Amino acid sequence: MQALILVGGKGTRLRPLTSLLPKPIVTLVDRPFLTYQLEWVKAHGIDEVILSCGFLPDQLEAVLGDGSALGLTLTYVVEPEPLGTGGALKYAEPHLQDRFFMLNGDTLTDMDLSAQLAQHLRTGARGTLALHPVDDVSSYGLVPLYPDGSVREFLEKPGPDDAVSTNLINAGAYVFEKEILDDLPACGSHFSIERDVFPRLVGNGLYGYEASGYWMDIGTPKRYLEGTFDILNANVATAIGRRLAAHGGCLTEGATVEGRVVRPAIVGAGSHIGPEAIVGGLAVLGENCRIGAGSHITDSVLHDGVRIGARTRINGSILAADVTVGDNCLISRGAVIGAGVQIGDDNEIVNGMRIFPGTEIPAGAIRFSS
Ligand code: GDD
Ligand code: MG
Repeated sequence: MQALILVGGKGTRLRPLTSLLPKPIVTLVDRPFLTYQLEWVKAHGIDEVILSCGFLPDQLEAVLGDGSALGLTLTYVVEPEPLGTGGALKYAEPHLQDRFFMLNGDTLTDMDLSAQLAQHLRTGARGTLALHPVDDVSSYGLVPLYPDGSVREFLEKPGPDDAVSTNLINAGAYVFEKEILDDLPACGSHFSIERDVFPRLVGNGLYGYEASGYWMDIGTPKRYLEGTFDILNANVATAIGRRLAAHGGCLTEGATVEGRVVRPAIVGAGSHIGPEAIVGGLAVLGENCRIGAGSHITDSVLHDGVRIGARTRINGSILAADVTVGDNCLISRGAVIGAGVQIGDDNEIVNGMRIFPGTEIPAGAIRFSS
């Protein structure tokens, strides 16, 4: 069975993590994000994946290769320009078999694709959309169903004036019969599968599959952190989550810990935690990080090569690779620091501030309190 995975979005909402890297290869806990998806589809018998790419495909290919490490065949289809989610499907047509999965490339999930396919076959659908309940439907596609499971309406990003009759949203995992491509606009056109195709398929063999299990679109810093913590807390089934649980909630192999690591936490090889420093609970440090004496890192993610001075506090924040932070700093409440940024001593970076690659902040330059 095949899966077409859409990875052509620019990932703007995750900047600066996606300023230099495409979203699918931004590290989530210990591996490129897309690897979770590849492991998930593989577990459901999919052995051929077509990656529909736009932005920076060379980097993607350099990291993910031909898929053989994961027991998959990976094919890269690169659009000359972004064609939208529908245009990307039509563009991939020559590679597609008669029945295939299509997946958004930015969701972390352990939904049961095999059960979705079984339902698709049982109902004789032309398209079956996996659905997941959420509290706030406004940033998703809303999908009310009839009692027989057929789709009543598809409403992308409902506004305040739209009637919201369900909490089921489009989870970005579809099974399609290839014949639906016959009615799409011509190859090379730009169009949206959510706005231009699904509404027209309503009443024409479009069904919803109410998935159980974990599901999260990790496309914003807040949800990236939530997804990370859900992996650490084993709320979603992942290989690294299982390894962490088997090690009592702390993985520190190859790291030197003078201070303390509080579970759940992962500290990468070659990292050093200085005296009286505390890392965790809920912290991920990549490889070769250094945490200075008396510093405290909690609810945060530090990618490879991050260096933190002494007596600095970091919570609820994301620091990309090779960031350096001086002594006596506070980085707090949703700050996102881009790769290689240098922050001098005595700075406070708080409240969702995003600092882009190439920035150097001198000592004492930013403070929120006296
Ligand atoms: N190849 C290609 N070309 N891929 C694209 C393009 C494009 O022009 N535009 C977006 N994508 C990819 C993105 O990389 C992502 O994996 C997927 O398509 C969905 O795009 P997003 O930009 O992340 O959409 P969204 O999150 O606002 O909404 C979509 O996902 C929701 C679930 O997370 C919709 O499908 C909603 O209906 C759905 O609820
Ligand atoms: Mg998304």
